[in-house]
Amino acid sequence: MRLAGKRAVITGSGRGIGRAIAIRFAADGADIVINDLNVQGEALQTLAQVEAHGRRGVLIQADLSQTDQTRRLIDEAFAQLGPIDVLVNNAGIEKRSPFADVREEDYDLVLDVNLKGAFFTTQAFVRQLIAARRPGKVIFISSVHEELPFPGFSTYCASKGGMQLLTRDLAVELGPHGITVNGVAPGAIATEINRALLDDQPRVARLLEQIPLGRMGKPEDVAAVAAFLASSDGDYVTGSTYYVDGGLAWNYRE
Ligand code: BGC
Repeated sequence: MRLAGKRAVITGSGRGIGRAIAIRFAADGADIVINDLNVQGEALQTLAQVEAHGRRGVLIQADLSQTDQTRRLIDEAFAQLGPIDVLVNNAGIEKRSPFADVREEDYDLVLDVNLKGAFFTTQAFVRQLIAARRPGKVIFISSVHEELPFPGFSTYCASKGGMQLLTRDLAVELGPHGITVNGVAPGAIATEINRALLDDQPRVARLLEQIPLGRMGKPEDVAAVAAFLASSDGDYVTGSTYYVDGGLAWNYRE
């Protein structure tokens, strides 16, 4: 089991890609902090599946758009589970809007969750590692839209573009501390963030034509790559972003 004895915090792991990462890491031997905005509902299913693998799971509610809550999440994670080895910044949202109509509150919400939240959660985690002189791994769950235009989603693109360079920047700055920093960039994965798309069959059909592997991704496809990066197999990998998109990025037309 390649994550045996490891402890991981996975933000936004009540459902979707975050849940799949929590379950995969538990199957690989890690204890897990499950975080979401609400840990009463769907997050309980993530917890049950982590425990079904014989691992410890801890639920910590936090709204990562609030910087004080990112710090509380990391403090509670260390207090409840012990020294954390891996942070997966997965929590993310998107809002569709023509650029001309984007409201300031929507800009703030998307940037605050996707970029500022990941930034300060990582800062809190890294402060703990440096103080304890421990190595660690940071994984950002980004998107193919850290690189590719996504018309109608300018706030999302701004957040993921920021995440791309943050990954590279932190890899350089934190490498001397033994901390690796990598990204995983999913393409079209069948989760709730894509509900409007999934309910629009003609749009799905057009999208599938653009995916060389001919199917949408599963959350487990993303979790497998995150598990590699979290494990010692990924020890010499830092500053990289892995696309998990069935080839979409090189064939994208919208
Ligand atoms: C977005 C999805 C989109 C996919 C492919 C993801 O990052 O969250 O809404 O379908 O990229 O374009």
